[in-house]
Amino acid sequence: MKVLLFTGLGALFFAYYWDDNFDPSSLQGARVLLTGASAGVGEELAYHYARLGSHLVLTATTEALLQKVVGNCRNLGAPKVFYIAEDMASSDAPQRVVQFALDKLGGLDYLVLNHVGSAPSGMRVRSSQTTRWLMQVNFLSYVQLTAQALPSLTDSRGSLVVVSSLLGRVPASFPAPYSAAKFALDGFFDSLRRELDVQDVDVAVTLCVLGLRDRASAAEGVRGVSRARTAPGPKAALAVIRGGATRASGVFYPWRFHLLCLLRDWLPRPPAWFVRPDLNVSTAAAA
Ligand SMILES: NC(=O)c1ccc[n+]([C@@H]2O[C@H](COP(=O)([O-])OP(=O)(O)OC[C@H]3O[C@@H](n4cnc5c(N)ncnc54)[C@H](OP(=O)(O)O)[C@@H]3O)[C@@H](O)[C@H]2O)c1
Repeated sequence: MKVLLFTGLGALFFAYYWDDNFDPSSLQGARVLLTGASAGVGEELAYHYARLGSHLVLTATTEALLQKVVGNCRNLGAPKVFYIAEDMASSDAPQRVVQFALDKLGGLDYLVLNHVGSAPSGMRVRSSQTTRWLMQVNFLSYVQLTAQALPSLTDSRGSLVVVSSLLGRVPASFPAPYSAAKFALDGFFDSLRRELDVQDVDVAVTLCVLGLRDRASAAEGVRGVSRARTAPGPKAALAVIRGGATRASGVFYPWRFHLLCLLRDWLPRPPAWFVRPDLNVSTAAAA
């Protein structure tokens, strides 16, 4: 009986994670607006989409880095690539970015929200000023970009892909403002998915829960704080793309994070002795 139960659970798990019907050709010619595309996960996402033949509008703040990524995307075969440098700390930026993408691509099939800002130097990490700034860049701008792009995504029956973090599902020690913005994304986009469902609007919403990537500069808020094991960046980006293309509601990379999220309600507050070995407590407390 036990063997049957475990085999059944194993088969379900296997089906859930590996049989996702991903068809790479579905992304050929797809019109993609990708944020945070100048570095990190966003840069890797841009290269995957370019290889798959998507039409791209890339955005971030650093023009020189965007130009480099655009050149690499062209070399990888992207038929159309444009960029627009904008700072999401400005509340007008999301409208300009979406309008630029609509003008260049004539519509959108994917809005991939990935950018993440770190507080400007001089701001205390956990001050209310920093938290307000981070909420604009890491949460409110996502909401604004979505509002601007939704009519076009509705027309194309497109997809919203939101890159988040385990810290948006499971509270952790120290990166409180970062975590707050990620939790807000989870609440907003989960609710939006339900709203769209009841209105029969065929726009998919994919929330991606990523863990630390194998990159020297991990996202602000956990940089220098966590000693947790890292996962390969290009594979994380591919998992995001597969999830978006198959219209999955959730992506967990690495997959074990799904288990952690499920366990969260049973183990809401792990003991300090359990988490302390994964943290540089003195670095974090001094920030
Ligand atoms: N790295 C990790 O280990 C990890 C773990 C879990 C989840 N994630 C998630 O994965 C996503 C990407 O993270 P990442 O590590 O790749 O970050 P990253 O390497 O720090 O890159 C962040 C991107 O966002 C852009 N950006 C920063 N501030 C911006 C602003 N004010 N306005 C517009 N664009 C801005 C950056 O461009 P400029 O520098 O040109 O401004 C860059 O392209 C984030 O949503 C993050 O939360 C990452």
